[in-house]
Amino acid sequence: METITCLFLLIVVSLGFEINNNVSQKRFPDGFIFGTASSSYQTEGAWNLDGKGENIWDRFTHDHPEKIADGSNGDIAADSYHKLDEDIRLLKNLGVDFYRFSLSWARILPNGFPNKINQAGIDYYNELIDKLLENNIMPMITMYHWELPQKLHLLGGFTNPLIADWFEAYAKIVFQHFGDRVKFWSTFNEPRIMCSFGYGLGTFAPGIESSGVGDYLCAHNLLKAHARVYHMYKKQFKYQKGKIGIVIDCHWSEPATQSDSDIKAAERMTQFSCGWITNPIFTKKGDYPKVMKDFVKARSLAEGYNTSRLPEFTKDEIKYIRKSSDYLGLNHYMTFMVADKPADPIGDPSQEKDIQVATWQDPSWPPGTVYPFRSTPWGFRKVLKWLKDNCGDVDIYVTENGFPDAFSFEDKGRISYLLGYLSNLLESIYIDKVKVKAYTAWSFMDYFEWYSGYTVGFGLHYVNYTDPNRTRIPRASARIYTDIIKNRKLPSSLTYL
Ligand SMILES: *[C@@H]1O[C@H](CO)[C@@H](O)[C@H](O)[C@H]1NC(C)=O
Ligand SMILES: *[C@@H]1O[C@H](CO)[C@@H](O)[C@H](O)[C@H]1NC(C)=O
Ligand SMILES: *[C@@H]1O[C@H](CO)[C@@H](O)[C@H](O)[C@H]1NC(C)=O
Ligand SMILES: *[C@@H]1O[C@H](CO)[C@@H](O)[C@H](O)[C@H]1NC(C)=O
Repeated sequence: METITCLFLLIVVSLGFEINNNVSQKRFPDGFIFGTASSSYQTEGAWNLDGKGENIWDRFTHDHPEKIADGSNGDIAADSYHKLDEDIRLLKNLGVDFYRFSLSWARILPNGFPNKINQAGIDYYNELIDKLLENNIMPMITMYHWELPQKLHLLGGFTNPLIADWFEAYAKIVFQHFGDRVKFWSTFNEPRIMCSFGYGLGTFAPGIESSGVGDYLCAHNLLKAHARVYHMYKKQFKYQKGKIGIVIDCHWSEPATQSDSDIKAAERMTQFSCGWITNPIFTKKGDYPKVMKDFVKARSLAEGYNTSRLPEFTKDEIKYIRKSSDYLGLNHYMTFMVADKPADPIGDPSQEKDIQVATWQDPSWPPGTVYPFRSTPWGFRKVLKWLKDNCGDVDIYVTENGFPDAFSFEDKGRISYLLGYLSNLLESIYIDKVKVKAYTAWSFMDYFEWYSGYTVGFGLHYVNYTDPNRTRIPRASARIYTDIIKNRKLPSSLTYL
């Protein structure tokens, strides 16, 4: 008995996490749903098979393997395109209520335009959707998870305002073919990350280095494209009775000290990252956050521009974008400490210089396989509270949350992260009264993690990338997640670890 208690305590201590408080032992509310997720470029493979067109990630990884940690690409990835039945079986074993995945635009429309529809692409997604439904797993579909058809990139991609027309035409095809069975849509995944990395820093496809200009332009056109598709769905496809919204990434920014300037700096960081996208869509006033408009404009003028580098919305556009989402999809991973920082000397513009903060992570926070993923469960609760306070108490679907723990089948780091974050989620629901409706464990299986290639390992399932068969093996976290879903409650002990 003594020994068993000791053992149990040891496990709890080694997880660094207190599971025995009142709220974390409450059941998840009725109607709360659990899922897992992937995205097409990261898992599907079959990059040039059955009529699929080239997209910007195909081109970027083929032309610039040096920009990917292990020189790899998504040509085969986890080969989910050929492993549909096996993947459905794994999802079924996991016990999830829904599966969040994305559609490859160029698999459906190889040229980007609806002049040519690739039937094999339609067939593939039809089969996936049908088999999920047969197994009582709800399909939750992201229409754009960062893989623009290359032919649209040649025309300017997200720097061209016509992206709204192109995206609308694609979305219409998607609703026509799948909307009879799909009742949960997201237009875009993480606008900030794709615009800042793809059109600002250039570390993501399409690799454009234009920080402080291209990134703002990308998000500006994206927000209008999002609203266009939201209104089109409500007007032409309302009879399909689905929800449609957008998925936003928000990390938490914790003030480094309680000084007024650091508190303001942390809030400024949150507005520049999260508020950039949430403010136009979810607030009563709409438009970009005031602090963002003020800071970018002041710096732009000092740099010699005669107008802000942050594009302006017209009054009509502000109205059109406001409230254009039935829910807020939240991707949350991490926390940073944030302090105020003196302005950089005037020179070339950059988004980082616009924000004027210093950020870092505390080395005592448990690290994942790769920077900047560290476990800080309390940050999750704070970000959910911030969203409730700033986004009109909207329904929140957590569409991604997870931890890279690549080198272990026992993945204690991921399990600790999962329990810590879910415990904070319960506190959000029961103490802070945030309307959180769903939780999505990122990710279903190991996949191609953008510039980190295959070095990261986010999966509830390990995938053997040296095996041509891409064998999948459930990690310990998959078993624990299955128990949580089944019991609708966190475990009261971890004796089965
Ligand atoms: C936890 O639950 C116990 C027993 O139900 C109760 O006595 C205690 O006050 C609760 N603690 C908190 C912090 O709610
Ligand atoms: C900015 O400068 C350009 C070129 O000199 C001019 O055409 C434009 O009207 C100016 N815009 C504003 C807002 O002053
Ligand atoms: C991965 O696959 C390779 C090749 O089939 C095999 O040699 C290796 O043992 C596998 N690794 C694991 C962890 O299963
Ligand atoms: C590939 O994996 C599947 C599913 O685990 C298995 O049924 C099949 O036998 C494997 N094929 C080879 C050639 O190893």
